[in-house]
Amino acid sequence: RERVPARHRLRAHRGGGALAPENTLAGIRIAHRLGCRGVEFDVMLTVDGVPILMHDDTLERTTDGAGPVAATTAEQLDWLDAGIKHHPAFAVSPVPTFAQALRLCSELGLWVNAEIKPTPGTDAATGRAVAAVAGVVSTHRVKNPAQNSPPAIVLSSFSTVALQAAMTASPALPRALLLGETPTDWRALLDSCGASALHVAVGVESSTLHDLCASGLPVACYTVNDRQTADILFAAGVSAIFTDRPDLWTAGEM
Ligand code: G3P
Ligand code: MG
Repeated sequence: RERVPARHRLRAHRGGGALAPENTLAGIRIAHRLGCRGVEFDVMLTVDGVPILMHDDTLERTTDGAGPVAATTAEQLDWLDAGIKHHPAFAVSPVPTFAQALRLCSELGLWVNAEIKPTPGTDAATGRAVAAVAGVVSTHRVKNPAQNSPPAIVLSSFSTVALQAAMTASPALPRALLLGETPTDWRALLDSCGASALHVAVGVESSTLHDLCASGLPVACYTVNDRQTADILFAAGVSAIFTDRPDLWTAGEM
């Protein structure tokens, strides 16, 4: 089962949702200030194999760089600005490494959903690398139970190959399968990567959603940006939502 603390229904999407540049430390800080207990962000590999926070395969939309992430070194990324395209107020926000993001979440006591986001052809390598870094943090957590700082981590992915590689690298880390369309063989896919939770798209048909929730597995829904939709989903049995608008809820409701 996905380890979700009680009163943990909202996960800030891509770090801090729409209130900050996506997949940045600034976003994670804003999510925490708003009262979020958990964050989701996307993790991709640089050409030299460093897991970093990024959603797109290319740098143009979210940074002042250009070209494929899979052709960029970690050092080259270090010079890019992941904030200025969101708003000049966020200028000089670095592209964080996964390790830096985990460290911040640890300091802030945030639960983490690291979405493994492979560039084409790197599914297994990305799953392995993300699980290796996350595994170190989780081992530290198990050895130091009195310290509640190292974050609880769930790995998710649309790629079953990435999740299988993550399972081999760090079997103890909980995994969630991300689904766009919900295929009829979702249970077989889930089992193939040892996942214990489903993360489904908000447009999922209500009869399908009913079946998924009735399975007893935790079901989380992305991306929900209004309260009315969220309430309908919670009433249908969804346990958590990913949102770009954590500001629509009060800290006590999260
Ligand atoms: O993990 C949920 C959600 O982030 C999946 O979609 O494209 O925003 O990564 P995307
Ligand atoms: Mg994501």
